[in-house]
Amino acid sequence: MLPASGLNAAVESADFITIDPHKAMMASSLDKIRVKGGTRLNGTIPISGAKNAALKHMCAAMLTGDAMQFTNMPVRLKDIQTLAALMKEMGADITLRSDGTMFIQAANIHSTEAPYDLVRRMRASVLIMGPLLARFGEATVSLPGGCSIGTRPIDLHLDGFRAMGAEIILEEGYVKATAPQGGLRGARIAFPKVSVGATENLMMAATLAQGETILMNAAREPEIIDQGEALIKMGAKISGLGTSEIRITGVKSLHGIVHDVLPDRIETGTFMIGVALTGGTIRLQKTRLDFLTSLVGPLQRAGVTIETEGADVIAHRNGKPLIGTDIMTEPYPGFATDLQAQFMTMLTLCEGAGMVTETIFENRFMHVPELQRMGADITVHGNSAIIRGVKKLHGAEVMATDLRASVSLILAGLVADGETIVDRIYHLDRGYENLVEKLESCGAQIERLSNQPAV
Ligand code: UD1
Repeated sequence: MLPASGLNAAVESADFITIDPHKAMMASSLDKIRVKGGTRLNGTIPISGAKNAALKHMCAAMLTGDAMQFTNMPVRLKDIQTLAALMKEMGADITLRSDGTMFIQAANIHSTEAPYDLVRRMRASVLIMGPLLARFGEATVSLPGGCSIGTRPIDLHLDGFRAMGAEIILEEGYVKATAPQGGLRGARIAFPKVSVGATENLMMAATLAQGETILMNAAREPEIIDQGEALIKMGAKISGLGTSEIRITGVKSLHGIVHDVLPDRIETGTFMIGVALTGGTIRLQKTRLDFLTSLVGPLQRAGVTIETEGADVIAHRNGKPLIGTDIMTEPYPGFATDLQAQFMTMLTLCEGAGMVTETIFENRFMHVPELQRMGADITVHGNSAIIRGVKKLHGAEVMATDLRASVSLILAGLVADGETIVDRIYHLDRGYENLVEKLESCGAQIERLSNQPAV
């Protein structure tokens, strides 16, 4: 439960979470997390809805004036609340219920501008651009911030909008996009690089464009399929979801739907890696193992047992040594870059060595110096890291630098000698719902240390 005081932008009661958009622009928690290492994880964890799908569903709600209802939304995540604040500022009517239901109605949008104060907190706000441009013919969005993992440009999004006839002007840190007279036009867009965000942004924009859009070299992530399926329910004409060629034929308008968000595969994978490190048995409820095939192989090679029981995944390690193994991040269905930092943490305690190669983002090894401070033996060569297993990690005060790096330090703390304090955990709040409570329920010695909110 979030406290109702200070600069907290979200206040949770028994039934609802109330967001204050003005506070959402200012609030930034300085809380830390303290972990005492050495306990096995044993227990059951309910998996939340996927953040990376939920955010896009919210953006897609801008495509219609009808009421939309989403269930299994990770409503406690800062990223979700930030986007809700942004959309409220634009005039959308949004209700977040504590049970994970979200109602959105974008019937009275009076602004199509996404200001820097909100976009800088979360890069995914740029995904609001496609829907706004398609429905209202204009969108002004600040250039994004978000995780500090490399430069992360949005050129592929903008080139796609240009191909659909939009005029794009970059001015004082803002992108101003205007659709041509009569609205966006369908286009053939061949992405030079696979991009999750660009695929989603253009797919949303194309649903209301004139004629057919073909997205080639499109991303194939499960979250994109989930988004596409929701759009189809709304009345969109889309084929090729889950393949690298998606075809969208524009329609005049879309309508409201009820949609259940798919489970978070990254959260699921993070806990699987957690139990690989600590030993023990955890049951991950209401999730999907088929989204994680590229993680299952390396985990099994390392010595983890993984089973499914209905919609639950059971991951188990009985204390046998972890064996070093290599991974390389790739677009889906390859190994997810969002699980790279966690997997590297696991390799720090393996027998022998493992290699991690990051091909999606530059500068995504920022967790390495922090893990080294805890005693890890890691050598980085360009976009590859060799991790030689050590006997023990040691508790330390470490700094979270991005969302997935932060959780990798929590996992390290779970197996380190003594106490680990992870600073700047606002990154974690962006993407892991009830992380402390979920780990605590499996026996971890972990607590949140509250600090003064920062502006
Ligand atoms: C999404 C996920 C993020 C995940 C990433 C890759 C969300 C909210 N975030 O991010 O968690 O790590 O996919 O699986 O869903 N690129 C360009 N130009 C662009 C867009 C991207 O060069 O216009 C580059 C990026 O810098 C990166 C690569 O393409 O090197 C892939 O990025 P992309 O797939 O777009 O990631 P996001 O959608 O931002």
